[in-house]
Amino acid sequence: MYDEFTGTGSAYLRTAAARVTRPRRYLMCPPTFFDVTYSINPWMELNKPIDVDLAMTQWESLHDCYREFGHEIELIDPVEGLPDMVFSANGATVVDGVVLLAKFRYHERMGEVAAYREWFAAREYKQRHEPQFINEGEGDYLVTQRWLLGGTGFRTDRHSHREAQALFGRTVISLTLVDPRFYHLDTALAVLDDDEIMYYPAAFSPGSRAMLRELYPDAVLATDADAEVFGVNAVSDGRHVVLPQAATHLISALRGRGFEPVGVDISELLKAGGGVKCCTLELHG
Ligand code: ARG
Repeated sequence: MYDEFTGTGSAYLRTAAARVTRPRRYLMCPPTFFDVTYSINPWMELNKPIDVDLAMTQWESLHDCYREFGHEIELIDPVEGLPDMVFSANGATVVDGVVLLAKFRYHERMGEVAAYREWFAAREYKQRHEPQFINEGEGDYLVTQRWLLGGTGFRTDRHSHREAQALFGRTVISLTLVDPRFYHLDTALAVLDDDEIMYYPAAFSPGSRAMLRELYPDAVLATDADAEVFGVNAVSDGRHVVLPQAATHLISALRGRGFEPVGVDISELLKAGGGVKCCTLELHG
């Protein structure tokens, strides 16, 4: 389908030694009340049993893995009756310490907003913005060195991109998602380093694919098999890329670029259509 070795940029030639971990700050929410009690994406099958203890064990290993790499982890208290709250990436977008709170598409998740609002208000975040338009936080907003990549098509309203651009003073590159299985931008694209990304082309409209090709000609491309195990829903600290262990093709492609892929098992959370990145809200700057 494509040749991952055609990359010509200097990024491609970087070796493992040149990949540097930049310490990060993440906000996570333990899956204490995790469940699938409604269905708002194609992964959520109501009659599949959920093992909360297993979800907790998998989440804890993700949490411990970040700690091991030296990252700072903040926690938000889970709220009973909000089974998707473990997916903290959706709670807000934080860029240069400025917070754009989420406004969820479906009523089932709207109750999460109050918890995130309170969390940010109780901390050093002085600039908190109540959104006018629907946006599902860093599920649909990904920060690169130069831009904010904004997803739309299923959850975040495209008008929110203008709102985010004005608030953060950064150009938002609008990308349209077309496959309902990859309903948030972070299920189809991950930022690996300053201006390096990986993505799953088939999840995007033809226009957005053309845009991504132009902006990121050396991007790592995910295969169907990678995308189906949520392999693109990954978190990179510039050196380690934490992703589902089942994403074997991506794991070797990333290694080929000098990253250190770290495979984890997050299968229980995938039953709600969530993965590694969904559980991780990066508190940028
Ligand atoms: N069940 C959740 C939903 O459909 C999963 C959210 C996943 N989060 C993410 N950042 N992709 O809203």
